[in-house]
Amino acid sequence: MTDMRQSEYPIDPLFTERWSPRAFTGESIAEDVLMTLLEAARWAPSSYNAQPWRFVYVRRETPGWKPVFDTLVEFNQSWAQRAAALVVIMSAKEAVFPGSTESELNPWHSFDAGAAWASLAFQATLLGWAAHGMAGFDADQLRQAVQVPEGYAIEAVVAIGKRADKSVLPAELQSLEAPNGRLPLAQLVAEGTFRFEA
Ligand SMILES: Cc1cc2nc3c(=O)[nH]c(=O)nc-3n(C[C@H](O)[C@H](O)[C@H](O)COP(=O)(O)O)c2cc1C
Repeated sequence: MTDMRQSEYPIDPLFTERWSPRAFTGESIAEDVLMTLLEAARWAPSSYNAQPWRFVYVRRETPGWKPVFDTLVEFNQSWAQRAAALVVIMSAKEAVFPGSTESELNPWHSFDAGAAWASLAFQATLLGWAAHGMAGFDADQLRQAVQVPEGYAIEAVVAIGKRADKSVLPAELQSLEAPNGRLPLAQLVAEGTFRFEA
């Protein structure tokens, strides 16, 4: 781990050891391992326990891979081609809340899907896999490829793979292949009112 990943206060190493590499070996992932990652995501907290998240996965050696992979921007294709699986994370924009029989807008659908993605990523780290979130894809094309109904937002695509040496990457990506840092806590956290260090 680099100096970039020194925590200011004591935390479990899991939180600094998770990062988003782009160099993957190309090793395939067993379906039950992938299910374990998605199982972790399933247990994420959500507003009113609405569980708005939905996941569609494709593994590289299956026919489902290409239609999803093709929606990634070129930059992401250049490294995600060696991932073992891609997981499309979606969320239901509406929910039926307790005390109601009507479906209504769920303002927390994306927030909750984010919690599920984080759980997936941490579980991947615990099992020696890496998960790398992506926003760089053609959303309309992906919606068609995966047949996502209208009431669902596409949140992200996640590449999952076994880490490889950075030499498998194109030269311009090799310099980026290291865990990055974070803003200081004082710029992110304030007591009582919205006053942060510049
Ligand atoms: C929603 C989301 C979208 C992202 N989109 C991309 C992407 O399209 N391409 C990429 O290479 N990395 C992408 N990233 C990775 C971020 O750049 C990375 O998570 C961030 O720099 C923090 O680094 P770390 O995950 O290694 O701690 C994305 C991450 C998230 C959570």
